[in-house]
Formats: sequence, structure tokens, C-alpha cells
Amino acid sequence: MMTLQEFMKEHTPKIEAHMYEKTRALKGPKSLADSMLYSLEAGGKRVRPLFVAAVCETFKQPQQAMYTVGAAIEIIHTYSLMHDDLPCMDDDDMRRGKPTNHKVFGEALAVLAGDALNSFAFGLVAKMPDVSAEQRLELVQMLSDGAGAEGMVGGQVLDMEGEKRQLTLEELEEIHINKTGALLRFSIESGAVLCGASQEERQSLVDYAHHIGLAFQIQDDILDIEGTSEQLGKTAGKDMASEKSTYPALLTLDGAKEKLNHHYELAIQALDQLTIDTTLLREFAQYIVKRSH
Ligand code: IPE
Ligand code: IPE
Ligand code: MG
Ligand code: MG
Ligand code: MG
Repeated sequence: MMTLQEFMKEHTPKIEAHMYEKTRALKGPKSLADSMLYSLEAGGKRVRPLFVAAVCETFKQPQQAMYTVGAAIEIIHTYSLMHDDLPCMDDDDMRRGKPTNHKVFGEALAVLAGDALNSFAFGLVAKMPDVSAEQRLELVQMLSDGAGAEGMVGGQVLDMEGEKRQLTLEELEEIHINKTGALLRFSIESGAVLCGASQEERQSLVDYAHHIGLAFQIQDDILDIEGTSEQLGKTAGKDMASEKSTYPALLTLDGAKEKLNHHYELAIQALDQLTIDTTLLREFAQYIVKRSH
């Protein structure tokens, strides 16, 4: 069995090559393509496509489609970051160790390149070869749910409206589940769909994803305080400066770390329901809570 580190080393270049190849094949204005590719090629941990691949590996069904679904989710995630960084939102100058998209291409093109990435992702999933029409339709529907008003975008709105206001823990959890959890859930559940998992297996993975999503954003909020800008590749200390409601803000840093560990343990417990070998997904959960960027 491969370790997670070996797994990431093997799959990250393949994920990236596939995503770049598809995006470079797009016709359209050169300035638009340059802006889209700038943010995709800037890097990032590629956690979401790696989750798609890790679930397929767990079911012992690695397949080409996991790279296409992975590309789609990474493309939507990247657009969400481009828009998140805009002056009208978090107003960030640095992302993935480089100047933010709007700093290089201007706000209007950053908005439009984000829009184009969003549309592009759905087409990739819709026309995947070697996947049944039924599965493709289900994945498109799931991606729409996860990315839109009932998922990531809805969460971003709640996050924005929660600034400069004391939120309850329930409200904060609702924000995290949507703004970050929804796309991570898609990353994990889409693997289950590609592998034809049973209802029970799928439910266990959805439970795992729920806690992974919360843990991921709690660690992001902790790193905003404990990390440096160099290490994170984005400006540290942004949340406090914008009086953002976060777990550390609500529970203190120690309280946030306790919550982080709580969700890690619940993620692992969800995997106990599965009869297949879930070592890779266990290691992935550990990576999520221990990561330093
Ligand atoms: C950052 O996501 C935004 C959140 C949803 C917390 P990542 O930490 O996955 O960012 P990249 O893709 O590695 O740059
Ligand atoms: C953003 O959360 C989540 C998205 C949906 C993009 P943050 O605003 O905390 O992400 P960072 O810290 O800028 O990466
Ligand atoms: Mg934000
Ligand atoms: Mg932000
Ligand atoms: Mg953050």
C-alpha cells in the first residue's frame, strides 16, 4: 500500500497535466485564457482532485475520469479563490505565492475569467468519455448543488454577511459547511459515484467528508493566525483585520484546536463503517489537520 505522500507525488503531476491540457485547448480571447491559466498554474495543494483520486484508489478502481472530475472541481475551487480575493470581497493581494489575479489582469477580467472557469467545469464533466450518461448527469447535478446557492456561493454570502457580527457556533458551522465543506463533499462523493459505491458506503464517505470539510476550514482559520504569508502563499492575519467570524475568534485558538481534533476523530469514525481498506483516507484526514499551508 502506498503512503499518502507517495500517492500525492504520483497523482499531482497527472492531475495538473490533465487540467492544463483541457484548459489550453479552449478557444476564446487570448487575454481570457491567460487570466484563467494564470491562477490554475499558480499551484495550490490540489487537495480536492487528490480526494477524488484517493476515493477511487480506496475502491481499487483508479480511472481516467477521476482526473477529469478532479480538474472540474479544482477549476471551480480556483475560480472561487479568484472571486474571494477581489477588492469587493476579501481584498487580497497574494494567492498561491503570487499576486492575485485581479492585481495582474484587472478586476473585470478576473471576474470574467472566474465566470468562464465556472462554466468550463460543467462541460468537462458532461462530456467525459468512458462514464455512463447516468453517472455524468448525477455528477453534474452534484457539482451544481455543491458550487452554487446551496453550497459554496451560498456559504460565501453567509461568510460575508457574518463579518463584524458575533455569530453563534451553529451559524459559524453552517458557513463552514457551505463555503468550504460543499466542494470537499463533492470531491469525496464523486469518487463514490465513479466507483459505483453502495448507498451505505456512500453515506459513510459523506459523513467523513462532512467532518473533513469542517476540519479543513478550522485549520485554514488557525493558519491565518499562526502561519506566515510566505508559508501560506497568501496574506496571513486577514481574518482578524476584517473582523471575520472564525473558530479561533469565537472559541480562542485552543478551543479551535480542540474542535479540529474532534472533527478529525469523527471523520476517522465514519471510515470505521467501511469494510474496505481506508488507510489512505485516514492518512488524508491526518494531513488535513496537520498541514502547515
Ligand atoms: C483555500 O483553499 C480556501 C479554503 C476553502 C479554505 P486551499 O487551502 O485548498 O487552497 P489551495 O488550493 O491550496 O491554494
Ligand atoms: C474562502 O475562505 C472559501 C472559498 C469558498 C473561496 P477564505 O476566505 O478563508 O479563504 P482564504 O483564506 O482567502 O484562502
Ligand atoms: Mg473569504
Ligand atoms: Mg479569503
Ligand atoms: Mg482563510
